[in-house]
Amino acid sequence: MVITIDGPAGSGKSTVARALAKRLGFHYVDTGAFYRAFTCKAMKVGADLEDEAGLCRLVKETNIEIVDGQEGVRVLVDGEDVTREIRDPGVTERVHFIASLAKVREPVVALQRAAAAGGANVVAEGRDTGTVVFPNADRKFYLDAQPEERARRRYAELRPGNKGISYERMLEDLKQRDQRDSTREASPLRSGPDFISLDTTGLSVEEVVERLLKKI
Ligand code: DC
Repeated sequence: MVITIDGPAGSGKSTVARALAKRLGFHYVDTGAFYRAFTCKAMKVGADLEDEAGLCRLVKETNIEIVDGQEGVRVLVDGEDVTREIRDPGVTERVHFIASLAKVREPVVALQRAAAAGGANVVAEGRDTGTVVFPNADRKFYLDAQPEERARRRYAELRPGNKGISYERMLEDLKQRDQRDSTREASPLRSGPDFISLDTTGLSVEEVVERLLKKI
């Protein structure tokens, strides 16, 4: 069984997807982690983030692994653990360059599908998991929440070393990302007629998970 959860930044989809996967005993696939991991690599080698052809070559020679181990999910790029690094503001600011390139997305989507291969039951979350990555998913959810609440959640998630940014700036960044994610040409963030939508404003993670479980 494949369950997809799409939605904008801070809609709660990562936390909910992880909790739902745990409840169901399913495999959790964080599709954004792949774009973040490749952004780390591109930044490390000093690649031009607007050079689609160059990045397309680079992504094909990059080994991205998501390993579900004892210390939780680890993200490896060419064998190096970048689990923490992929959440740094520098990566968050730049990942949209990578995510907007159709030719770079193609091999990344193949990796995401491979992560769910082998007949495993999965909960996948991201921006295009129900529309592009798993169009034949058994259940497709779309989570959203008011921008102010989403910014508050994101702010609370920041590591102490990254608290230099204000809540107001966070909210502005988030609105900018929403705009970018939903208006880009390559696999924009979108719901569809076969999606079940839920506004998570004011709901706890447990409440959201319970509501989704009722629809599965
Ligand atoms: O969900 P996140 O913040 O980790 O996503 C990081 C970036 O990757 C963000 O710019 C959206 C993009 N993304 C995407 O384009 N498609 C996905 N399926 C998942 C994430």
